[in-house]
Order: sequence, then C-alpha cells, then structure tokens
Amino acid sequence: MRSKSKKPDTLLTHAGRSPESNFGVVNPPVYHASTILHPTVAALEAAQKNRYNQVTYGRWGTPTTFAFEEAVAAVEGGHRAIAFSSGAAACYAALLAFLKAGDHALVPDSVYGPIRIFADGFLKRFGVETSFYDPLIGTGITDLLRDNTRVLYLESPGSHTFEVQDVPALVACAKARGITTLIDNTWAAPLFFKPLALGVDAEIIAATKYIVGHSDAMMGVVVCTEASFPRVREMASLLGSHAAPDDCYLALRGLRTAGVRMRQHETQALALAQWLAKRPEVERVLHPALPSCPGHDLWRRDFTGSSGLFSIVLKRDIAKPAVDAMLDGMELFGMGASWGGFESLILPGHPERMRTVRPWQDGAILRLHAGLEDQGDLIADLERGFARLNAAR
Ligand SMILES: Cc1ncc(COP(=O)(O)O)c(C=O)c1O
Repeated sequence: MRSKSKKPDTLLTHAGRSPESNFGVVNPPVYHASTILHPTVAALEAAQKNRYNQVTYGRWGTPTTFAFEEAVAAVEGGHRAIAFSSGAAACYAALLAFLKAGDHALVPDSVYGPIRIFADGFLKRFGVETSFYDPLIGTGITDLLRDNTRVLYLESPGSHTFEVQDVPALVACAKARGITTLIDNTWAAPLFFKPLALGVDAEIIAATKYIVGHSDAMMGVVVCTEASFPRVREMASLLGSHAAPDDCYLALRGLRTAGVRMRQHETQALALAQWLAKRPEVERVLHPALPSCPGHDLWRRDFTGSSGLFSIVLKRDIAKPAVDAMLDGMELFGMGASWGGFESLILPGHPERMRTVRPWQDGAILRLHAGLEDQGDLIADLERGFARLNAAR
C-alpha cells in the first residue's frame, strides 16, 4: 500500500497487513520464535548483516513484530518504528540512544514521573546531567541550552497537569543547535497529533494506552525518522529489548479500532469535562480542549482532536479525607495506574511531590480517564462521589 497518500483511518485499517502472502487471512498470525533456521552459511551471514530488515533471531523481531512496527510507522508518518515491551522501556531506550557521559538533557517539569526518576537516578549515575524546564517555556528554551545539551525531551500535554507545549518552537530552537528532540506523544496517538511532521526526531508512544486499548497488554514503540532510526534500533539491541509476539498481535488488533475508540473517548471526556467545570467543588478543569488548560491555544493550532484523559483541580479547602471518601465509593470509575482502555478511571495525582521548576501550589488533582460507558451513568457516579466528598468535608 502506498501509505503517503492515505488518510489516518485508512492507514489504521490497512497498514502492516498482507493477506495475499498469508492464505488470505486478514490478520497477520502470531509467530513465536527464538531460533530462526538458515539453510546455508551464506544465508546465515546475509541474515546477520541484515538483521533489522529480515527475520534473523527472535529478539530482533518476528513477522508479527515487523507487522506491528510497519503499521505504526505508516500511521505516524515515520521511516521505521521499533517495538518495546512497555512504554517506559521505549522512553528509556530513546533517551539512551542519544546520550552519553558528559551530556546534558532537558526534560519538562510535567514529565511522566518515572522519566524524572530515570533521569535523576540512572542517567545521573552514568554521567548525564538533566535540567527540568517549564513545559510552557516556548522559545525561552534557548536560554537553557548548553554546549553539551544533546537531547530536548518533550511530552505534550504533560502528565497529570496537561500543559500543551509549543512543539514547533521548541523543535526550531533545538534544531538550530543540532540538538535531538524526542517526544512522548502517548496522549494523542495514534490519531490526534503527528509530531514527526513538525520536525521531531523520534516519537515515543506507550502503546499500552490507546493502541492496545483494552487494558490487557503492555507495549511501547518509538517511531523514527530515517536519521534517528539506526541509533534507537541499535540501543534496543544493546539493551536486549524484545516485544513479545502475542503482545504485538494484541497491539496490532487494537490499532485497527483505535480511530473509532479514540473519537468516542474524546466525546465522553469532553462531556464529563464540561459537566465537571460547572461543579462548585472544582476549581479548574485541565483538559487541552478547554480554554482553562495551559496551552489550549497551542492545542487548537497543532492537534486534530483530544483523547479521553484529563484532570480536575479541586478547591483548595477540600482536604484528603473528603477526597478519599469520594474515591473509595466509586462504582464505575476504577482506581489504578495506566489509562487508554475501554473503562473509566479516576486517580489522585500528586504534582506537589514531583515538580521542581514550578512547585504545585494549587488544590488536589484528580486525573480521569473517560471510558466507553454510558455518559449519564458516569455522571451519576461522579455526582454520588461529590455527595460523599461534601458529607466528609
Ligand atoms: C505519558 C506516559 N508515557 C509513558 C508511560 C509508560 O507506559 P507503560 O506503562 O506502558 O510503561 C505512561 C504510563 O502511564 C504514560 O502515561
């Protein structure tokens, strides 16, 4: 299929499939493999030289892995993609691919928590210094660039607080100094934002979220340009990284319906966000599609839609016992890590424990994921939750 001329929904449906080479079966089968046999020494040697392009050894990918990678690369407009066992593994490998001892990295203050821990712990131990920056800094990033800055890491919108970043401005500043840009695009992928088209060097997606979409598998993927691919691919090999074929199959199956699911998550989240914005207990709704969210204008400029994840900031006088009373009795909103599955979730966020550039001084944060349940049922669940919260205030 000539992917360049096809629209996103067509790519989600067709990319990475070749029924004609598989008995007409619609979906690629799951190949379980470690050893791959080669008939001659010449064939073995040729395969070893070409290990990232053909099936050579299970760790470097089976036909199932390659099908998933091909599909995501086409959907995101990348040169090649590399599958990982989790979103976190994909983030870490992308960072390690472009950093070495003595280098400096810039990471937004609103980054997904484990990345901060990785930077402050692992990267520091191996001689890489990380500075955290205000996610809304825009072209002001230039003042933070050093001679040894090698990576500008982005995540837009930010974890828990949803600041939308000025990706083109940040990329332009980095490019002017030859600095590699990496972005965690999990919130909007695979439908609503295409960072590679804006010049980002590599895009990271926690496929665990909307691509898998059913809360039953962990997967990550880094989508690369032609220039960034060799380093990320080589780092994945050096780390002994491998994405399990069964999980690649689940992710590929999830990808086929990601377009319709994401649009429904979008509708649901917008309805909940607008309802929550009118609640007296809520100080602010942090949803990129609402003007109350920092960077909302950038979202309007750069994104084609919004997904199902957003936060609310509660009024400052609402203390933990009242919030706990709300959360403990939720019927439809589950409480647990991750998001992007079909079900609704609610989770207390704690930016006050993490932020170093702009300490969080607002009220308590609740992060919601709008699932595919009936909208009225979800609102009724929240309404009962607020009643418990008010009774405990
Ligand atoms: C924005 C973001 N990036 C990366 C990850 C990590 O993905 P995984 O849980 O698949 O390791 C998460 C997980 O919640 C996330 O929210």
